[in-house]
Amino acid sequence: MTLDAPELAPAMRPGQFALLRDPAIFDPYLRRTAWFYRIENERVACTLPARDPLAARVRPGDLLDALAPLGRAIEFDAKERRILLVSEGARVAPLIAIADSAVAQQREVVLVSRSADAFPSHLLAPEIEYRTDADALSAELIAWADAMVASGSDETYHALADAARAARYRIEPGWARVLIDLPMPCGAGECYACGVDTLRGVQRACVDGPAFDLSDLDRRRR
Ligand code: FES
Repeated sequence: MTLDAPELAPAMRPGQFALLRDPAIFDPYLRRTAWFYRIENERVACTLPARDPLAARVRPGDLLDALAPLGRAIEFDAKERRILLVSEGARVAPLIAIADSAVAQQREVVLVSRSADAFPSHLLAPEIEYRTDADALSAELIAWADAMVASGSDETYHALADAARAARYRIEPGWARVLIDLPMPCGAGECYACGVDTLRGVQRACVDGPAFDLSDLDRRRR
């Protein structure tokens, strides 16, 4: 979904999201999360699940009520030159924004898809190395990365934590971040519907996330 929003386009950062609502329709499901995917001139491209009623209903020219930008942006420090991104299915969208930003900052980027419905490679910047084969997430690649960001299911995050421990002996705090995709009714940190259990206590995905340190989540699991 592309939003014609010239005032929003310069403000959106990789890893952030918008909460959308159709103001013309009484909608019992409140706002839904649209992940920031790309800037197209003065337009903000976001993604919703294809089966979302809002995605099915909206037509070109419709007016949407958007709360954005929300969430903490993903940034890398100067030492993080080699970036590994791990995606699962349609959850790849926020990683494309992160990849494009990292490439613009002259970082090396490898994007790995862990599912059969891989992202179309022709839509990726040529600087992004894209791997879709079953063995793409090798121990060598995990050891290579200065930083990792993943977007997928809890199962994928558990598997990544195990693979990272095997390849790097431990998951260093700050090395890996994972994006949490939960319903976020308010987006303002008020309702706690998006609470995530972490080593630091309950954090809110909408204002403390949506990215969390894998080491915080993983130690909670063990
Ligand atoms: S959505 Fe309400 S606290 Fe996060």
